[in-house]
Amino acid sequence: MSTIVRSIVISGANERMNTANAAVRPGLFVSFEGIDGAGKSTHIAALADAFRAQGRSVTLTREPGGTPLAEKLRTLVLGDAMDALTEALLIFAARRDHLRQVIEPALARGDVVLCDRFTDATFAYQGAGRGFDEDVLSTLEHWVQAQDDGQLRQPDVTVWFDISPQSAASRLADARVPDRFEAQPLAFFERVAAGYAARAQAAPERFLRIDADADRHTVWQQVTGAFVRRGLLAIMVAPR
Ligand SMILES: Nc1ncnc2c1ncn2[C@@H]1O[C@H](COP(=O)(O)OP(=O)(O)O)[C@@H](O)[C@H]1O
Ligand SMILES: [Mg+2]
Repeated sequence: MSTIVRSIVISGANERMNTANAAVRPGLFVSFEGIDGAGKSTHIAALADAFRAQGRSVTLTREPGGTPLAEKLRTLVLGDAMDALTEALLIFAARRDHLRQVIEPALARGDVVLCDRFTDATFAYQGAGRGFDEDVLSTLEHWVQAQDDGQLRQPDVTVWFDISPQSAASRLADARVPDRFEAQPLAFFERVAAGYAARAQAAPERFLRIDADADRHTVWQQVTGAFVRRGLLAIMVAPR
């Protein structure tokens, strides 16, 4: 199979193709979102392989986390009881460190950054799920994500794994010991799922909705198909 090297120019959510050298490609920032058990982690590594197979350098990372400091904050947030404002402050502190140490340098190098959760998760979990003040979250978002030109750093593409909370819960019941969020009742995940739907409705050009109730093969085809249609992957890649 021939390798087609393509470079991608991203301007906000608008992509266009050119044939410039790989070294001068602008970065591409992709976040993976969806409730616990939706299938994000299952598919993010395979998408990293697909981009690498097409000559892209990939930074695969996650939130909260992605740096030594942010991973310590992740351990606290996922394990220790705390009030909603403390939780939001720790998550945005972790995001700040992650942006400065990992995400911005990777994008400046021209990497594809694949991030397992980003700020949409904060609005879905802390905002819609916990009922925390979304105006405060917006203020923190501006403090943490404002760039020199005043624009907020946001993903270019958000892959949204949309799944029914019941399906996600039954997958998780078989899969792993729940963390502090995964142990929440179904009603919590219904609010979080509604929060994601509202975020997607507010930024339809950024969100790629995936029907994550489907089997793995169908989900993978949806993910790669969406990137191919946007001109971000050159070919469909066989599932691993
Ligand atoms: N499409 C799918 N159909 C059935 N099970 C799946 C599917 N995708 C993932 N799983 C399984 O569901 C569980 C949760 O998947 P995971 O990728 O960890 O979700 P997330 O990272 O979104 O919390 C894992 O045991 C995984 O193997
Ligand atoms: Mg995961």
